[in-house]
Amino acid sequence: MSDYAFFATAPKYMGRLLTKELERLGMREISEGEGGVRFRGRLEDGYRVCLWSRIANRVLLALNETRLNGPDEIYDCALAIPWEDHLTPDQTLAVQFAGSLEGVTNRQYAVLRVKDAICDRLVQRMGRRPNVDRQSPNLRIHVYGDQNRLIISLDLSGESLHQRGYRQSGLTAPLKENLAAALLIWAGWPQIAAAGGTLLDPMCGSGTLIIEGALMAADIAPGLLRSTFGFQGWLQHDEVLWQRLLSEARLRRRAGIKRLGTLRGYDVDTNAIRLSQRHLERAGLAGCAQFERRELARCEPGPDDEEGLVIVNPPYGERIESLNCCKSGG
Ligand SMILES: C[S@@+](CC[C@H](N)C(=O)[O-])C[C@H]1O[C@@H](n2cnc3c(N)ncnc32)[C@H](O)[C@@H]1O
Repeated sequence: MSDYAFFATAPKYMGRLLTKELERLGMREISEGEGGVRFRGRLEDGYRVCLWSRIANRVLLALNETRLNGPDEIYDCALAIPWEDHLTPDQTLAVQFAGSLEGVTNRQYAVLRVKDAICDRLVQRMGRRPNVDRQSPNLRIHVYGDQNRLIISLDLSGESLHQRGYRQSGLTAPLKENLAAALLIWAGWPQIAAAGGTLLDPMCGSGTLIIEGALMAADIAPGLLRSTFGFQGWLQHDEVLWQRLLSEARLRRRAGIKRLGTLRGYDVDTNAIRLSQRHLERAGLAGCAQFERRELARCEPGPDDEEGLVIVNPPYGERIESLNCCKSGG
């Protein structure tokens, strides 16, 4: 069974939290690095992190890591990867670059060299080349440079994992889903929820904190809501394995939802309440949280709320005021 080197990318300041999450998910050889966390494991581990991580943005599977003696070697390094094992010429690809490389001033240079190498290799082996599709490619290739170190990886996640799939646009300044999850973990919500506490957000906006809180408390894998992942277009994708992980997550969801306590979201804006309800439904949690139009001054716990957590992402400063999104100032 193959052993892979993975890298889960994380938003700034969330490396420690992601490290702890990966430990809880049973990953091994975990170490925090620039912009994320490395770990090793089987394909199942990479899939599991895609499905269960509440913090990561992306999960990358390293294909090649090398020290370059100059920018010319980017092409050779990429050409040495057996791309015919990863995609067919009928598929589309996108190449993305992060970091910086000695002697490379134009980031697009690395992207083009890797893309050329992939296409040349497939032309040599299969007579045809794949096309580029930057919006929705079948396979996303991630290139990372750090001085003279080059890592070429497959992006298993596809769209960033913070995009769970329950949210629609419509309200200004929502928290990203993984930031909301991080705030809840930092505030101790998983422990409070396990002890039967209530979650209350008095300025809930589009409902992100409440919905992430519900997903966490009900043991629901955030990836269960997504319809696509990057690995689904990969030639080595193991659909049987993926379906097994999904079934396991659905079983946990079914059991977890029964244990869900009270979650309340208030907002002065009727549109925000409407949007929160819609997002709750889209998250498959209709009826699992209560959203109500209520001014902050009237915010109070419900009659049966004994203990719990109040968490709020208030409107603040120039950003909101200049956008004029909040009805009552805040
Ligand atoms: C930054 S947004 C919250 C975004 C939310 N965390 C999300 O992810 O969608 C702040 C919210 O506070 C609400 N708000 C402002 N003043 C309020 C007040 N006096 N009482 C209740 N809600 C208020 C606004 O309507 C807005 O939806």
